[in-house]
Amino acid sequence: MVSDGVDIRKAAYKLPTDVQEMDGLALQRLGIQHTIWSLMIGGLYPVGVTDQVDNLLKAEPERQPIVLDVGCGSAIWSIGMANNFPHAQVVGFDLNAQKFSDAPKNFRFIQGDLSSTLPEFVGRADIIHCRCVAQHVKDPQALTRLLSATLRPGGLLLLADGDWIVYDQHKKLVEPFKWWESSTTGLEESMALEEDARGRSWYAGWLDFFGNLTRSKEYRPIEELVKNVEELTMLDSSRYLSPINWPGEGIENGKDLGQVLNINQRNFFIGAKDIALRAGLSREMIEIWGRHYVEEIDHGHLYNVWYYVTAQK
Ligand SMILES: C[S@@+](CC[C@H](N)C(=O)[O-])C[C@H]1O[C@@H](n2cnc3c(N)ncnc32)[C@H](O)[C@@H]1O
Repeated sequence: MVSDGVDIRKAAYKLPTDVQEMDGLALQRLGIQHTIWSLMIGGLYPVGVTDQVDNLLKAEPERQPIVLDVGCGSAIWSIGMANNFPHAQVVGFDLNAQKFSDAPKNFRFIQGDLSSTLPEFVGRADIIHCRCVAQHVKDPQALTRLLSATLRPGGLLLLADGDWIVYDQHKKLVEPFKWWESSTTGLEESMALEEDARGRSWYAGWLDFFGNLTRSKEYRPIEELVKNVEELTMLDSSRYLSPINWPGEGIENGKDLGQVLNINQRNFFIGAKDIALRAGLSREMIEIWGRHYVEEIDHGHLYNVWYYVTAQK
């Protein structure tokens, strides 16, 4: 069944989609996020599925195996896969138009909503990669069913997503400061606001605010989304923590991650300002928030939280 007749259109993608987001250069936001994922999982996909990937993409090259990058953004992942597996056909899908000047010949891009672009591949894909997309579509469970339907039997699903929660140095949940729930809201009362925030995190508050604003109300953790699809067998479900501006404790590539996360989270604040303005925050409030946000990521010992699920059909 292809999506149970559920419309995953009207996917209100609310994160920044300007040139800065869509450009795949390493210093741009999606480029940086790609670096973060690569550092966390150790490459383009988790080491644990290397054998499955090799079997699917190298065993019968004359079959021209198919790799789909669903909601590919800058297509930095798909282009990496196309370069590494020249016998595979790699296809990137996104709502937004793209130009790829230096993409390899075995890569192509299809623009449009996934509900209408993916069905062409039903039952044919060897590998589907879908990273940081599920929470942005209207019906994440319908999307997961559609991904499963698009895989051929034995095909591999690589499903990844970020969370909007923050952990402290002891890997415990940080309490967000939700100014909008505070009785103090005016700028003239900013001292009182700072008093109010005491013990809670402005950084976690900003993430909480954006999570609620941008994530589908139907969203469930990706592990659950996969478990709810009968034809999929979960291979692994992992949580990754990325330290911000410190190496973290026991974190692989922690030093590099800490530095990259600092740049990424600074960019995120700048990129999200307009959305915050449109959502009704005053410039003054954004300014106060930004000051505390940067202070926390520069000097706190915080982690962001991410999830990666691999499953086979
Ligand atoms: C956060 S970005 C992630 C991009 C990429 N997967 C990565 O990890 O670098 C989410 C992408 O999903 C795309 N997207 C969201 N909803 C979509 C839909 N219904 N159809 C096609 N693309 C969609 C957005 O345009 C955006 O480029």
